[in-house]
Amino acid sequence: MPTQNTYILAIESSCDDTACAILENDRVLSNVVANQKIHEQYGGVVPELASRAHQSNIIPVVEEALKLAKIDKKQLSAIAFTKGPGLMGSLLVGTSFAKSLALSLNIPLLDVHHMHGHILAHFIDDGQEKPSYPFLALTISGGHTQIVQVNSSSNLVVLGTTQDDAVGEAFDKSGKILGLGYPAGPQIDRLAKLGNPRKFEFPVPKAPDLNYSFSGFKTAVLYFLQRETKKNEDFIKENLEDICASIQYTLIKILFKKLEKAVIQTGIKQVAIGGGVSANSGIREHLKSMESKGWKTFIPPFEYTTDNAAMIGISGYFKFLNNDFAGLDTTASPRIHM
Ligand code: KG4
Ligand code: ZN
Repeated sequence: MPTQNTYILAIESSCDDTACAILENDRVLSNVVANQKIHEQYGGVVPELASRAHQSNIIPVVEEALKLAKIDKKQLSAIAFTKGPGLMGSLLVGTSFAKSLALSLNIPLLDVHHMHGHILAHFIDDGQEKPSYPFLALTISGGHTQIVQVNSSSNLVVLGTTQDDAVGEAFDKSGKILGLGYPAGPQIDRLAKLGNPRKFEFPVPKAPDLNYSFSGFKTAVLYFLQRETKKNEDFIKENLEDICASIQYTLIKILFKKLEKAVIQTGIKQVAIGGGVSANSGIREHLKSMESKGWKTFIPPFEYTTDNAAMIGISGYFKFLNNDFAGLDTTASPRIHM
């Protein structure tokens, strides 16, 4: 452990949020996120608009993070940024900015895998108990659904992954069919609380081993709603809460079927969740309920679930401690593997 404090400025720009955080060791001093509202009217993220918005947001967001943290640029020890996966144009903005800042301040650069960030966010010092290695992480976001065995901060092994859509897409696409705005995940969560989860039954797709599949799910929702609205054109309006509760119930069932299998196969009973969809209250409750089966569960604080830069900062901090620096020739990698 270094005797001096380490100050890391972290940037996350992989999708549609421009974020900057400052960490003092494993403690977050500031965590600023600029959400891009522009995409709502299109029902999904428009990559070209996202990169343009990152360009106009990045300097104010970085300045705000430094101001809130009461840190001067000269005090920084390193710059961390999201290398991938994500949208090329969006990643390029953060990557180029991070490189120029590190170069101008003559400090090291740390390139971070976005999904490592979602997992290692659990190690941000927030007064909660931390998982110990090895543990299992279910990473659920708009782009990913994976079961990962985390052996250390740099040894993460993917045990299972989605073969098509991510669970976040299943939430968002089902919500789009229901006429909910983008992203629909949080709205389905809110409406599901008011509905009956057993009212309608949706199929649980088949996928081999510890893998997932969600593309058939949204098709099943689409066909179901087409059938029902043919009989009653007000079907969605009259049953919205029950439909949302039933969709969420099924998605939770799909996620936990494989997660339980992974716990049995590995014998690892410490289980963490991460990624935007881990903000879902039904998923959080269900995970907690598994403690009755002997699991020890870890749920990240709300502000570190959807995309943020604090998670990139903590991942960068571990790399810093391991002297695992990136060269200035590092590039944005939209499809980088774990
Ligand atoms: O991790 P994230 O912020 O961005 C990606 O890396 O994709 O995840 C965004 C996803 C979206 O699909 C959004 O609908 C979903 O997270 N999400 C939720 C909830 N909050 C965000 N899904 C279900 N329930 C929520 N409360
Ligand atoms: Zn994410």
